[in-house]
Amino acid sequence: MQIISGTEVAGKVLTECTAQISELAAAGIRPGLAVVLVGDDPASRAYVRSKDKKCRDLGLHSVKHELPATTTQEELLAVVRELNADPAIHGILVQSPPPAHIDEAAVVRAIDPAKDVDGFHPINVAKLALEDPTGFVPCTPLGCQRLLIEAGIETKGAHAVVIGRSMIVGKPMALLLMAKGPGGDATVTVAHSRTRDLGAITRQADIIVAAIGRPGFLKAEHVREGAVVIDVGINRVEDSSIEKGYRIVGDVAYDEVAPKCRAITPVPGGVGPMTIAMLMSNTIKACRQITGK
Ligand code: GUN
Repeated sequence: MQIISGTEVAGKVLTECTAQISELAAAGIRPGLAVVLVGDDPASRAYVRSKDKKCRDLGLHSVKHELPATTTQEELLAVVRELNADPAIHGILVQSPPPAHIDEAAVVRAIDPAKDVDGFHPINVAKLALEDPTGFVPCTPLGCQRLLIEAGIETKGAHAVVIGRSMIVGKPMALLLMAKGPGGDATVTVAHSRTRDLGAITRQADIIVAAIGRPGFLKAEHVREGAVVIDVGINRVEDSSIEKGYRIVGDVAYDEVAPKCRAITPVPGGVGPMTIAMLMSNTIKACRQITGK
């Protein structure tokens, strides 16, 4: 059984980023990312902080907007418009989910598609479906695909089952796996909360991508011997034996599933670090496309 280290692969991606940042610096260009958070959800705050920190570590220009939960739609749109017009900013990310009074789809549509490093704008969703390489692909599924490629997992002709149909992970993951080329050419099934007899489907999978959002949901009985399992889950579960009071677990019941697998990603240290690495990579891509360098 192979444990696919996201920490290791993310390190490789970030090394590639560093090389590109040096090249751009030689041309007098510094990629810039703006991260916008509305409200004070603790998990979202933690994500936003780590994105900002990673930018700074790499020498990217980073701007962090932490707005109160009472921010209105119009105020948030004004921030987005300002960032669209800012030549020092090449990537804009509005952390999801925003508070309930915010129309998230409208905010996403307001982001300049050329700066939409999350790949959530309808133009970029379309480009992914069209296999147009100038588009931006959401960071988490892009990171999952890169993990499969780096771990030497053959996706061509494989049956990949994606569990989850969100716009952030499930749908773009399915499109990536069915696209032509490395990390693609798979036969893809998308399962979700309304799927009948999930186990009958996942037991046919060569590759399972679990993006359900429920701790330890995927059990040994769901997985056939020799499957590859990518665990996208980042769930906080209470644990009073730890000072923080919680620990992070995936969507996969790792201890029972791992022994059956040909390869599996751990949580933490699997998909998580890849998401941030791909965000850095997307920001550099946006910068290069905008500046023509
Ligand atoms: N919330 C969870 N994952 C993501 C992500 O990749 N981007 C944004 N903007 N919000 C998220």
